Amino acid sequence: MFGLTRKNQPLLGIDISTTAIKLVDLSRVATTPVPRYRVEHYAFEPLPPAAISDKKIVQHEAVSEAIRKAVSKSKSKTKQAAVALPGAAVITKVINLSANLSDAEMEEQIQYGADQHIPYPLEEVKLDFTVLGPVPGNPEMVEVLLVASRSENVDDRVSVLEVAGLKPVVVDVESYAIQNACSLLPDLQDPKTRPVVGVVDIGASAMTLYILHDDRIIYTREQNFGGRQLKEEVQRRYSLTDDQASQRIREGTVAETYETEVLVPFREALAQQIGRALQFFYSGTTFSSIDRLILSGGTASTPHIQTVVEERLKIPTSVANPFAQMVFASRIDSKQLLREAPGMMVAVGLALRGFES
Ligand SMILES: Nc1ncnc2c1ncn2[C@@H]1O[C@H](COP(=O)(O)OP(=O)(O)OP(=O)(O)O)[C@@H](O)[C@H]1O
Ligand SMILES: [Mg+2]
Repeated sequence: MFGLTRKNQPLLGIDISTTAIKLVDLSRVATTPVPRYRVEHYAFEPLPPAAISDKKIVQHEAVSEAIRKAVSKSKSKTKQAAVALPGAAVITKVINLSANLSDAEMEEQIQYGADQHIPYPLEEVKLDFTVLGPVPGNPEMVEVLLVASRSENVDDRVSVLEVAGLKPVVVDVESYAIQNACSLLPDLQDPKTRPVVGVVDIGASAMTLYILHDDRIIYTREQNFGGRQLKEEVQRRYSLTDDQASQRIREGTVAETYETEVLVPFREALAQQIGRALQFFYSGTTFSSIDRLILSGGTASTPHIQTVVEERLKIPTSVANPFAQMVFASRIDSKQLLREAPGMMVAVGLALRGFES
């Protein structure tokens, strides 16, 4: 997106998230019957607690440094990279345009009419668009997805990558990267059904519900709930520092009473939060059920979360593993990578952008 070149060659997927830099470098090992990928390199590099706030880059140097470290640890030689903007930093809108316009004509029309759709002065925004397909029932028109973001959001991400020695060639949006990574999930690959799928990305500070239907995100809702609640409870109860709590949660070595005193109530709270988000979706739309739930984000690594959510909400649920159908280069520590898998959806979705023609 955002007018950068797109080439059919590997891209580093770089997810600049609140808690860490996550890097994925893939190669494509087959294209038929479905594309298959190999993980060539990956890295997970924690960020200092104040480096990102509200998904905005606050400490640019610390972020660049962490990217540099991630690249170096991953041993990847790939320099071209894809990065994502958080959903809150973009405005999207679907408009209808005549189907027989050339790309250039379409761009002209969009530039010309953009001020109707975007609440900022046009010289302060970056704008991109993509044709989604014909308007249902009207083959002469196409639906076009407009994406706009304040230039500073794009420039910030581009510059931290450049300072780290990378060449950013794609600036995507987090939600589209997650959607893209969903194409790799075995549960969602049956082309005969048109399931309504809820993807819940549970990060550190926030939880976002995306509803996917017919290859589109038809609904998004963000709630203030995430792994931070778990971490703060662990810190408080076991008198641990921020770093200690984070590390022990990831390793599953918090304390003997962790399961009963912390995890049991946390899982219930999480299931309740997801249930609430779904209620908002049902009450705001004509849908009254969904077919499947996918849990992604680091907090989806919480032990037994799948069972509890599935039992409470009575919806078939799985934890996202974008690597389920990939092979691994021999240098990859696959056990560690699989432990991080639910939190790598954005990075994987970004890396996949290298294989679009
Ligand atoms: N094994 C685990 N059990 C429970 N929680 C975990 C585990 N591993 C990681 N987490 C939690 O996942 C969270 C990080 O998730 P993720 O990497 O998706 O967040 P983020 O993308 O950095 O944050 P955000 O999406 O809010 O910007 C942390 O709060 C961490 O405590
Ligand atoms: Mg995240």
